[in-house]
Amino acid sequence: MKLIQAQNDQAVGELAAQKFIEVIGKKKDAVLGLATGTSPLSTYSALVNAYRNGKVSFREVRTLNLDEYVGLTEDDEQSYHRFMRENLFDLVDIKLENTHVPCGTINPEIACKEYDALLDRYPIDLQLLGIGGNGHLGFNEPGTPFTQRTHLVNLTEKTRHDNARLFASLDDVPKQAVTTGIYDILRAKELLLVVMGENKAEAVAKMLRDPISEDCPATVLRDHPHVTVIADAAALNLLTKQELEEFK
Ligand code: F6R
Repeated sequence: MKLIQAQNDQAVGELAAQKFIEVIGKKKDAVLGLATGTSPLSTYSALVNAYRNGKVSFREVRTLNLDEYVGLTEDDEQSYHRFMRENLFDLVDIKLENTHVPCGTINPEIACKEYDALLDRYPIDLQLLGIGGNGHLGFNEPGTPFTQRTHLVNLTEKTRHDNARLFASLDDVPKQAVTTGIYDILRAKELLLVVMGENKAEAVAKMLRDPISEDCPATVLRDHPHVTVIADAAALNLLTKQELEEFK
């Protein structure tokens, strides 16, 4: 695992975007695993700028997102389908038919099977990740078996609270989501975790220090051969100098 410290949120995004541009530069039909939430916003904004400046094209690229809330239609303001269109897909030259987000409105069992088939068909070259305050990846909450594939999740109260800032009220935050499992996250050739803010410092420290176990899903990243973490100083402020050196 390689840890890169960036000055601020914008710098995290620029470094992460650079990684995407490198991957697409080598393989124009790269398959990208994408995430939603606050963490990837600066990455998407840097990618949109790079596209506008002619530094990258998404014409042949395919994307598979990690997760979607259950019960929200694609057009719902809070759906991850809509998030991706507003923050990336509608702003670059990607073909919408090459973008995939789990479906939150059909029978979850069918949605999960369909998504597993896509993951098998399109192996991911580079997977972007954010980390939850409780160490979740995608919506794989603590306790989720690492062997699980796409599945229906009951969101923890912590995650619902953390995400309530984006909804009118806590009651509006869905209680369930469909998420890609840790099994498939680990199958990506390369993983890129972007982290910013003090509220993530504890999760980052646990990811690096705790035993690798389902109690803190992010610890599993230490088992993957190609992981880059790009973080701002606030997210790293619980780490010792020695730890920062060790993962440099
Ligand atoms: C979303 C996802 C989640 C988020 C995590 C952090 O697709 O996979 O694991 O990355 O909840 O969310 P933010 O970035 O909003 O703090």
